[in-house]
Amino acid sequence: MIEDILYKSEFSKAEIIQLLETQGDEAKKLFEASSKIKLNTVGRMTYFRGLIEFSNICSKNCYYCGIRRSNANFERYELSEAEVLKAAQFADENNYGSIVLQAGEISSPHFTEHIESLLKKIKALSNGRLGITLSLGEQSDETYRRWFDAGAHRYLIRIETSNRDLYSKLHPNDTKHSFDERIGCLESIKKIGYQVGTGVMIGLPSQTAEHLADDLLFMKQLDIDMCGMGPYIEHEDTPLYQYKDSLMPLRERFILSLKMVAILRLMMPNINIAATTAMQTIDPAGREKAIKIGANIIMPNITPGMYRDEYSLYQNKPCTDEEPEDCVNCLEARIKLAGSEIAYGKWGDSLHFVEKG
Ligand code: 5AD
Ligand code: SF4
Ligand code: FES
Repeated sequence: MIEDILYKSEFSKAEIIQLLETQGDEAKKLFEASSKIKLNTVGRMTYFRGLIEFSNICSKNCYYCGIRRSNANFERYELSEAEVLKAAQFADENNYGSIVLQAGEISSPHFTEHIESLLKKIKALSNGRLGITLSLGEQSDETYRRWFDAGAHRYLIRIETSNRDLYSKLHPNDTKHSFDERIGCLESIKKIGYQVGTGVMIGLPSQTAEHLADDLLFMKQLDIDMCGMGPYIEHEDTPLYQYKDSLMPLRERFILSLKMVAILRLMMPNINIAATTAMQTIDPAGREKAIKIGANIIMPNITPGMYRDEYSLYQNKPCTDEEPEDCVNCLEARIKLAGSEIAYGKWGDSLHFVEKG
């Protein structure tokens, strides 16, 4: 009986696999349970994180990603400081509460300084109102520390998969793409005092339910504060594309992603979980469905419209023809349909982090 598992406070790996494999009525019960837990812990509000994808220049070569270094089939861009500040101002004026600065991975003294100065300017222009999350990949302890001191308080770095062997199939075998370094970064941002976010891709070539169960246990063990995860979506200009015929259908990847969100909500009731853009890529109402069954964060894209096509991590990424204003109106209606409401002007910090003290 699925109920015997759903109301436990801890799941074994075998139980998580059983939940991942639920179908029909049982899956419905899983989603009802996670939806209820969400309402009773983090509540019904959805928090905004205005997403600024400020550069698609990346020094890495991840096998799954459309903006990997070796892909020459698109234009690289970098927003000017004025453009980033304007986007941040837009978020502030529209009461988003928080922003995320995301870019391809670059590590250099100049980059560290550039971000540090941006952070200070964003804090100043919003009078400290905007919460700031960074998603800028692997950096040195010192860089993480400087950005924290300059005003960033949350950091996202996905582990992509917690399985070392699978990780090595997704990345080149060199020191720049080391699994241990990745883990080290997660530990470092936690030690510095950031709210820690991680996540995985779901439906990767040769990924099993066992891998996904381990991913959830990994998040629990790391005691994360935030999670963003979603379906893997193949991109034709990447090495992993060769395995496209071995993948599960997109629809199944989407349902599996919803189950991952639901199970994580049951395992870690008070963390922040994002309804990710990749979910919307498969199902036009994907993010709303994720909100219904457990997610409480949405990241409206506020990158100026002209650059959006070039931030193509995967194909058919939504909202690339829209301007920031379009997404606000659209989301407002969508979130209402999901039985939730946008918490304007709130940071929406992870309750898990706050309660840890
Ligand atoms: N499909 C889904 N997600 C992807 N990402 C990169 N490439 C893909 C893809 N093909 C995700 C990774 C990365 C984040 C910025 O985008 O998880 O951490
Ligand atoms: Fe660069 Fe991130 Fe894409 Fe890897 S996943 S190639 S680090 S942008
Ligand atoms: Fe971008 Fe709907 S969220 S157009």
